[in-house]
Amino acid sequence: MSRRFAAFVVTGLIWCASALAQQFTSPEIEQRIDQILTGLTLEQKVGQLVQVSYRNVRNPEQLVREGRVGSFLNVPDLATARKLQEIALRESPSRIPLIFGLDVIHGYRTIFPIPLAEAATWDTALVRRDARIAAIEARADGVHWTFAPMVDIARDPRWGRIAEGSGEDPFLGSAMARARVLGFQGRRLSAASPLVACAKHYVGYGAALGGRDYNTADMSEWTLRTIYLPPFKAAVDAGVATLMSAFNDLNGTPASANRFTLTEILRHEWGFQGFVVSDWNAITELINHGVAGDTAEAAVKAITAGVDMDMMGFAYAKKLVGLVREGKVSEAVVDNALRRVLRVKLAAGLFEHPFPDEGYDRGLILSPPHLQAALRAAREAIVLLKNEGGLLPLSRDLKRVAVIGPLADDRDAPLGSWACRGRPKDVISVLQGLREKLPEATILHAAGCGVDDADTSGFAEAVRKSRQADVAILVVGETRRMSGEGGSRAYLGLPGVQCQLVKRVVSTGTPTVVVLISGRPLAIPWIAEHAQAVVESWQLGIQHGRAVADVLFGDVNPSGKLPVTFPRTVGQVPIFYNHMNTGRPPNPKVRTTSRYVDAPSSPQFPFGFGLSYTTFAYSGLKIEPGEIGPAGVVSVSVTVKNTGSRAGDEIVQLYIRDPVASLTRPVRELKGFARVHLEPGQSRRVSFRLGPQELGLYNRHMEWVVEPGRFEVWVGPNSVEGLHGEFRVVR
Ligand code: NOJ
Repeated sequence: MSRRFAAFVVTGLIWCASALAQQFTSPEIEQRIDQILTGLTLEQKVGQLVQVSYRNVRNPEQLVREGRVGSFLNVPDLATARKLQEIALRESPSRIPLIFGLDVIHGYRTIFPIPLAEAATWDTALVRRDARIAAIEARADGVHWTFAPMVDIARDPRWGRIAEGSGEDPFLGSAMARARVLGFQGRRLSAASPLVACAKHYVGYGAALGGRDYNTADMSEWTLRTIYLPPFKAAVDAGVATLMSAFNDLNGTPASANRFTLTEILRHEWGFQGFVVSDWNAITELINHGVAGDTAEAAVKAITAGVDMDMMGFAYAKKLVGLVREGKVSEAVVDNALRRVLRVKLAAGLFEHPFPDEGYDRGLILSPPHLQAALRAAREAIVLLKNEGGLLPLSRDLKRVAVIGPLADDRDAPLGSWACRGRPKDVISVLQGLREKLPEATILHAAGCGVDDADTSGFAEAVRKSRQADVAILVVGETRRMSGEGGSRAYLGLPGVQCQLVKRVVSTGTPTVVVLISGRPLAIPWIAEHAQAVVESWQLGIQHGRAVADVLFGDVNPSGKLPVTFPRTVGQVPIFYNHMNTGRPPNPKVRTTSRYVDAPSSPQFPFGFGLSYTTFAYSGLKIEPGEIGPAGVVSVSVTVKNTGSRAGDEIVQLYIRDPVASLTRPVRELKGFARVHLEPGQSRRVSFRLGPQELGLYNRHMEWVVEPGRFEVWVGPNSVEGLHGEFRVVR
């Protein structure tokens, strides 16, 4: 089979998948759109393309009455949403229902782990259920539409928004994107969908230079298609109804004026039928980017590129009618944008059920099953990074436990950067979780220092209490404002004097467990080397403390695996597992190889890494058949056995490498994973399939091809270990 034919086969398969998934429209819907369009004035049409934030405009009700707004974000409560909707339906000129949006990112009031932490579960069923719960709570409280999932790949932990996504890998990121879209919307957008989803930020936002938020992204089309686009494609294939155009410029064109990505790829290649909303003021910011001289030009660039709705930029509100009248934008362009907005409003059932809470029960908010789901997610998201001498799990018979650190009794940090309607009072801190777990023990608590100051006056008390204790649990890390939007950091260590505090406590000789709370990978070389046990707890939401206590005391066997590489030092960044080999792969003994003279080139903890209280053995790797054609499929299977004495979950990971190709290929690429539960002594056969979608690459012409040759395969517990085998693709 020729390469071109292989490319044809593969593209055909992928295209069919998206065409099917994006069928949330119907002939009836299109007919209704035609009818609605004929009855609207130009002003009314443009009004539908305007989204404003309730709390940022002076007279929101009047805007609705005058038909100058089609959507709100940040409406404070259900009563306000109902009131606005009544005005839209009874008093606005077009009588088109409003759509209410909100950032429901990792929970509404029941706050789940941040998305990066949920990605550490590698549990798509769990992620899907949690999104569903968030959707049900939000909907009951007046929300139709969430600005989630955030599916930006992030390879730079300096970027604070790494917290909001699923980490560095496009395969895992795509699986999480799909799960969240299905959770929010259900299998198909309809009146039964609790929320309309929005995949963001399209596209390249995670590649901000220097990790500085909003900064330029510059990459090859190969990297764009291979690394940054796949989670968006997965979201589109799962039926996502909206996308948000990003703030950043990409290869010289701002993402919110980028016809190539917004129209050619998204609509023409992928068949996306929904609408694109800009990020907040991103259209007017085209002026700052330097591609538009004024608001009018910004509006022209955005709407003709394919941005349908203007979030808080007021460029469409102020300029679009005039631009059409002057002939600078054709009315058909406005009609097309409106058609897409109406399609989503109609498909989501807003015309029949305009009041979001109809059929939803506010009594479910923070209900016991929701709290239970949040606890389960928090438990699964914890990653055990180090456990020297089997210090963990701790015994419940401990008499005196020191709980030290500025975040030990913090109820704010666990909420993460997009806490939506979450409240600190609902959060179980680590201290509280430990007190619940050990009602009989003496808990000696001291903050020791602040998160981000230079005051060491609390060290003495922390050291004294650590000395008196059988074990010290140190809870250190970041506040929730240190990650998320605008939360970029130039340093990746523990802020303030926290690392000094850790050193002082460790040097007491009391066995020490370091619990990290963070929205990103931290660079913690000293801690990784000297603390006996290290636990990454991210920002786990309202059940944070309970989940940490469950893991520390062995009621839960940790199973999380890193969705992102942990560097040793910020100087290694960007560092990610699926890098190219280079002509001179790093060799610490040879100077002129791709390495540093002052730091290792390996990460502190690799992608996919995470320990358990039990051990798993891999054996019997089988790859069948040993040879396939470019459109063929191989089956890869392996036996995983729990060889320890506790039940546990293992996340089995499959990686491939195409060692000789027409373009350079990553040293490893994740192409499959499975979470398996094993009782002590139990073993299970785990199988994966590798077909054209997993084996292909974008060639120089940006065609998806499977190239003949040898493929290497690893199946194992993380991105650096595993059983190795190979097979061949032949013409
Ligand atoms: C800006 C953020 O970039 C985006 O993620 C969010 O959805 C909007 N603001 C609305 O709050």
